[in-house]
Amino acid sequence: MKTIFSGVQPTGVITLGNYIGALMQFPTLQDEGNAIYCIVDQHAITVPQDPKELQSNIRTLAATYLAVGIDPNKATLFIQSEVPAHAQAGWMLQCVATIGELERMTQFKDKSDGKESVNAGLLTYPPLMAGDILLYNTNIVPVGEDQKQHIELTRDLAERFNKRFGEVFVIPEIQLPKAGARIKSLQEPTKKMSKSDPNTKATIRLLDTPKQIEKKIKSAVTDSDGYVAFDETNKPGVSNLLTIESAVTGLDIASLVKKYEGLGYGAFKEGVATSLIEHLTPVQERFNELIHSDELDRILDEGAQKANAIASKTVKKMENAMGLGRKLR
Ligand code: AQP
Repeated sequence: MKTIFSGVQPTGVITLGNYIGALMQFPTLQDEGNAIYCIVDQHAITVPQDPKELQSNIRTLAATYLAVGIDPNKATLFIQSEVPAHAQAGWMLQCVATIGELERMTQFKDKSDGKESVNAGLLTYPPLMAGDILLYNTNIVPVGEDQKQHIELTRDLAERFNKRFGEVFVIPEIQLPKAGARIKSLQEPTKKMSKSDPNTKATIRLLDTPKQIEKKIKSAVTDSDGYVAFDETNKPGVSNLLTIESAVTGLDIASLVKKYEGLGYGAFKEGVATSLIEHLTPVQERFNELIHSDELDRILDEGAQKANAIASKTVKKMENAMGLGRKLR
């Protein structure tokens, strides 16, 4: 049975990008293997966070995972900081990574761009992410395209560690969604949609009200052609909206283009918004039932226990392989 691992940062209510690129695949995968899903709060503090807001975002993300269909009887759901092995593995892997390769990560370059000072964690976050994945003998990592470079680094670090210290890690494979691996900003459709985008019109959040969704889709940047067609280079805005509608309806792009044949952008945007609202309403209803429940805490406690049992064993193996502490007897 394959092990699947993926994580999401609690840096705000998740966007349609996070949902279509990653979370939407998670419920199916829990039926195909041993699925482990993590709220990676230690990654969130690589950029400044308000502590109260961070804790509220962690709970929101936990309820979101369950609302989109994660079943705690099939999958393990836990918070990264509640499993100390992650920080331990992250440190050991930092000592295997080089500064040069960490500086080459595009996310580091993007997030540090133009800033006078950034914290060291922003640079060393990829080895922590590698640890998250490798601790569980992960075979498959379902993520959006923006994480491709980090998964490649994870594989490199695992191979380097195995070569230097002996076979400890399984080498994981990335799994991108068939469509929607990179959902774009509604305002700058050549840029990825991102939770931390300060422009509120650029993102659709999973918990946006129908009114907010309609408004944001209506003001999405398109072009002046006035017809609906899929062409990511010349019509990035329209193509992004088609990708979104295709992902949430399961209809292919060609049949959506047909649906909007002869119609203007007003009708097109109305159609996209309606499909989206129809898809998200039941998810939001489940979220509201879960967010203040004791059940949520019970699930997270059990998840942390299960994750700890696996991860602490891998950490011991890593320490022993690297010669830390006393030899295992
Ligand atoms: N625009 C996107 N399209 C498709 N997939 C995406 N993902 C993120 N943005 C898109 C995928 O969502 C998962 C969780 O991402 P994350 O929260 O761990 O970090 P991120 O990739 O840095 O996402 P954000 O939204 O841009 O967060 P911030 O703004 O806090 O950095 C990952 O699988 C990611 O690929």
